[in-house]
Amino acid sequence: MKTRITELFGIEHPIIQGGMHYVGFAELAAAVSNAGGLGIITGLTQKTPENLAREIARCREMTDKPFGVNLTFLPAVEPPDYPGFVDAIIDGGIKIVETAGNNPAQWLPKLQDNGIKVIHKCTTVRHALKGQSIGVDALSIDGFECGGHPGEDDIPNMILLPRAADELEIPFVASGGMADARSLVAALAMGAEGMNMGTRFIATKEAPVHENVKQAILAASENDTRLVMRPLRNTERVLTNVAVERLLEKERAIGAGIKFEDIAAEVAGVYPRVMLDGDMDAGAWSCGMVAGLVYDIPSVKELVDRIMREADELIRGRLAGVLN
Ligand SMILES: Cc1cc2nc3c(=O)[nH]c(=O)nc-3n(C[C@H](O)[C@H](O)[C@H](O)COP(=O)(O)O)c2cc1C
Repeated sequence: MKTRITELFGIEHPIIQGGMHYVGFAELAAAVSNAGGLGIITGLTQKTPENLAREIARCREMTDKPFGVNLTFLPAVEPPDYPGFVDAIIDGGIKIVETAGNNPAQWLPKLQDNGIKVIHKCTTVRHALKGQSIGVDALSIDGFECGGHPGEDDIPNMILLPRAADELEIPFVASGGMADARSLVAALAMGAEGMNMGTRFIATKEAPVHENVKQAILAASENDTRLVMRPLRNTERVLTNVAVERLLEKERAIGAGIKFEDIAAEVAGVYPRVMLDGDMDAGAWSCGMVAGLVYDIPSVKELVDRIMREADELIRGRLAGVLN
């Protein structure tokens, strides 16, 4: 397939692996890039710019294909060293950055002056238009189905993607709920030029997370995610577990006056315990509804090859076949 996204990023297949906290290490990014997609290292999982520089160097040893780095801008008591992370990205020779969480305008000139293409992830047409107006190179349109932070507008991709296509001029990929060839072909039909997957890539052989995480996604159905932190306007879609149900009970009991401190036990410092230690009840961790479409734990290459082969069959076979 050739789309504006494969051309922009110099990749073989229009499939991107979104940044994922404590999942997007060099092993997964390299596996996705080696399979012909675009792998992405999660910047903030590396606590310091020096660590990120090492992770980029490690990834480069595992692949000679393009890969990117995710920079997530979220509210934080002590903001991470963003200028340092940007320098590590530039010095590490990275040519693609995925931004998310907030308007990346402040960082665009420096990134783009250094030959970096920026794909900004957002959950509304409004924010997508803003991204386009400040000059990002591409967008990742993240529907309400997505694992992680779906925003507060709750528009699913069946509406969001064609709306984005109607408004945008720059290329975009569909993100949220993408799992297989059907997702890719539907995304293309709705005007996207590729797809971004999070949850589906966790359930692969190369994802460097505890086996319990992969098994939890395999076992989960589309009914098993919950939305937490809605009252804080920091909504996150997570897989249900004991801690998540306790968190939701607190949200019901405390009501609108709830503060971050009230739920810190269920959301702070959770990722290393879940992803590295496999403690599945440690707290709330992001997972998409698409878990219901995950039936196996293939290698990344098997997954990507299967998607591309079945997409071809779908377009030339079933779709061409419905025309008379
Ligand atoms: C475990 C997990 C962690 C994530 N962490 C981040 C993150 O740190 N930054 C970010 O921009 N997106 C993050 N995301 C969102 C993904 O990049 C992607 O947009 C999302 O997973 C797409 O939805 P899907 O899970 O339905 O494929 C995360 C998603 C998951 C499942």
